[in-house]
Amino acid sequence: MEKLVIKGGRNLKGEVYISGAKNAAVAIIPAALMIDNSCKIENVPNISDVAILKDILIQLGAEAEFADHNTLFINSRNVNTYKASYDMVKKMRASYYLLGALLGRFKRAEVAMPGGCDFGFRPIDQHIKGFEALGARVEVKHGIVRLKADKLVGSHIFLDVVSVGATINLMLAAVKAEGITTIENAAKEPHVVDIANFLNAMGANIKGAGTDIIKIKGVESLKGNVSYSIIPDQIEAGTFMVAAAATQGDVVVRNIIPKHMDSLTAKLIEMNVKVVEGEDWIRVTGNGRISKANIKTLPYPGFPTDLHPPVTVLLCLADGTSTITEGVWDSRFQYIDELKRMGAQVKVEGRMAVIEGGSRLTGAPVKATDLRAGAAMVVAGLVAEGETELYNIEYIDRGYENIEGKLRSLGAEICRIRQGSCQL
Ligand code: EPU
Repeated sequence: MEKLVIKGGRNLKGEVYISGAKNAAVAIIPAALMIDNSCKIENVPNISDVAILKDILIQLGAEAEFADHNTLFINSRNVNTYKASYDMVKKMRASYYLLGALLGRFKRAEVAMPGGCDFGFRPIDQHIKGFEALGARVEVKHGIVRLKADKLVGSHIFLDVVSVGATINLMLAAVKAEGITTIENAAKEPHVVDIANFLNAMGANIKGAGTDIIKIKGVESLKGNVSYSIIPDQIEAGTFMVAAAATQGDVVVRNIIPKHMDSLTAKLIEMNVKVVEGEDWIRVTGNGRISKANIKTLPYPGFPTDLHPPVTVLLCLADGTSTITEGVWDSRFQYIDELKRMGAQVKVEGRMAVIEGGSRLTGAPVKATDLRAGAAMVVAGLVAEGETELYNIEYIDRGYENIEGKLRSLGAEICRIRQGSCQL
């Protein structure tokens, strides 16, 4: 079992390069199944979620190979099955994108849903409602979602909730449907736009991605031999920005799209953190006292739910009482108990956490309860007095490429222990 050991108290200093967006990659890789040809995907984050998806594609008959650390070649010519078993998808929560991609290509899909959840119930009713509107018959039985359509026909779909997954899945299913599909109340996240751009590069006709109305004009076929570069990861960038602020550091976060960071940048400035933006970088500098703040997570362009756990650590260090309200997920507070073990004073009331600032966090053995909770514990370890041992780090590896290497390059004392020991 691996763990991260962090000795807190160092101010992070220097520059860090952000990898490609996980939540774009986990949709773009399945989208490559939609062509019977090859494509080259660049700026792919080298994370375990991507490795798992690559293996799933290979099991479906595709060729998928890294040409270098972050460039993935996929050729889906020999894919001849629309079935992905539980064994294949159980480690991959975003496996639901196989539904839209396989339905789009074969008009059929059978995909097992992965069991368990990171943080509460994660329904897919909006995905299913959309597939049905496009003409698919849907059966959910024994943990398997089966989709079958004689033909897919464009439709008008109004999502009841703003859902990233449903928006992307319905784009995938609709690109080759007959006629026009309109998705209203669509998610506007940067990765939704990225997937639309990838599909358009393959010959799809999608307009309006990034707004709440997306129009997809079905095309007869998609073309291969496409080369596409994934956008930078908004959440990895945000995690490093928060870590810089929490450690009173001075960090330039590079290879990002500063516009994607607007909601976090505004909050950091409100909290008395210095933030300067360039064309593709943001510099975050600690300014001494951190002011309290009230934050509510919302769909983009609101404050991202995936930055909620890391930013809570920053609120623990602020002057006064802050609140964070979770506006996307029903339950995302499991990490609070771990944070309390390090001295945080937080009370959860329904969907809101009330955080007493001014805590002196102290190192402790703690665990990651999910991916972003793990990122929060890393930030906590960086500011805590003494040593933090962080367990269950396979969650972190799902979404952060070489987190300890990047932090070490900023002066953090952090190492991964596989077997034996490490010197801090
Ligand atoms: N929802 C429904 N019905 C649906 C779909 C969603 O009620 O059919 C609800 C959910 O329960 C939730 C809300 O709608 O309350 C938003 O869910 P969404 O569908 O947007 O989430 P998702 O697509 O499953 C993606 C990211 C998550 C991120 C959310 C919100 C991927 C693979 N995952 O999940 O990222 O928290 O959007 O931005 O893109 C992470 O990276 O750590 C992570 C969990």
